[in-house]
Amino acid sequence: MKTHLFLCTGPTCSQQGAEETLQSLQAVLGDRNLHTKVRVTLCRCLGQCGNGPNMVVYPEGVWYGHAEKEKIGQIVQEHLVGGTPISALVLTPVD
Ligand code: FES
Repeated sequence: MKTHLFLCTGPTCSQQGAEETLQSLQAVLGDRNLHTKVRVTLCRCLGQCGNGPNMVVYPEGVWYGHAEKEKIGQIVQEHLVGGTPISALVLTPVD
């Protein structure tokens, strides 16, 4: 397993489209045959409510905010496959 991605499906992120993001993520990973390389774990709150859908990509520890379904293809291609996080979408988490 190369990448472990945590996607928040907590109440606020769900209101902001996390379920649609999850569906897009599963579809894109399936299309690219990446299910054996990318583990997706759902979590209930990443403490960054209001910027959702939020997700974190490990081992890099890169956070993405506003990760709507339309952005998933780009995140998978450029970051998970290409290895370069998308700086314009990166979220700096606040305490
Ligand atoms: S519900 Fe997603 S960060 Fe809180």
